[in-house]
Amino acid sequence: MLPEKIIFIKIKIMGESLINSIIKRRTYYSINNQSSVSDKEIEEIIRLALTHIPSAYNSQSTRIVLLLGKHHAMLWQIVKKTLKKIIEHDSFSATEKKIDGFAAGYGTILFFEDYQIVSDLQKNFPAYAMNFPTFAEHTSAMHQFAIWTLLEENGLGASLQHYNPLIDKEVKLQWHLPDTWKLIAQMPFGTPVNEPAKKEFKPLENRIYVFK
Ligand SMILES: Cc1cc2nc3c(=O)[nH]c(=O)nc-3n(C[C@H](O)[C@H](O)[C@H](O)COP(=O)(O)O)c2cc1C
Repeated sequence: MLPEKIIFIKIKIMGESLINSIIKRRTYYSINNQSSVSDKEIEEIIRLALTHIPSAYNSQSTRIVLLLGKHHAMLWQIVKKTLKKIIEHDSFSATEKKIDGFAAGYGTILFFEDYQIVSDLQKNFPAYAMNFPTFAEHTSAMHQFAIWTLLEENGLGASLQHYNPLIDKEVKLQWHLPDTWKLIAQMPFGTPVNEPAKKEFKPLENRIYVFK
């Protein structure tokens, strides 16, 4: 009896802290280049996600690049250089300000999906071939959410950015990444400087139906 009871209490406590972490996760645009946790701990968060987050057919197609220090700065230089070529001179200053805000952070996590795995799945399961690219996006999103939540649980603030596919070529060249990796998202993070923006919540009435 007793061990079961202990396990039950443990699960309940863990459940409560998971709910708090989900509620606490927000988008932080104002971040600085300090970190409340060590680089090793940030790496551990990523390793934990890569190991335990589910993937379609257990394909484990997610690939992650952690950019710190000068590598983090280099990424946002690439983004700036790329956007400067395509955005009108007059409106570039707003974009530049936004990019500088991400560059001001401590690091950036790049999320990729390995399309070698996606095309292998398509070959092995032809009836579902058209689903696998979507599954890869879902798999990446699960990793993004878990890492975003865990970073914030450890005192960091993050946001989710999508400068792909504009920056894909330069990013792969810069960090010598495999051709089969597709860039899905960029997550700049650092210590939050301001509170996150006020968030509106749509009513739940039309967002959940329960039948029993
Ligand atoms: C799939 C997805 C894509 C997003 N893309 C961007 C983006 O490109 N740039 C950005 O600033 N925020 C992006 N966001 C963040 C959302 O704008 C943000 O999560 C939403 O406004 C809710 O705010 P919260 O994160 O503070 O809860 C994205 C979020 C999701 C889930």
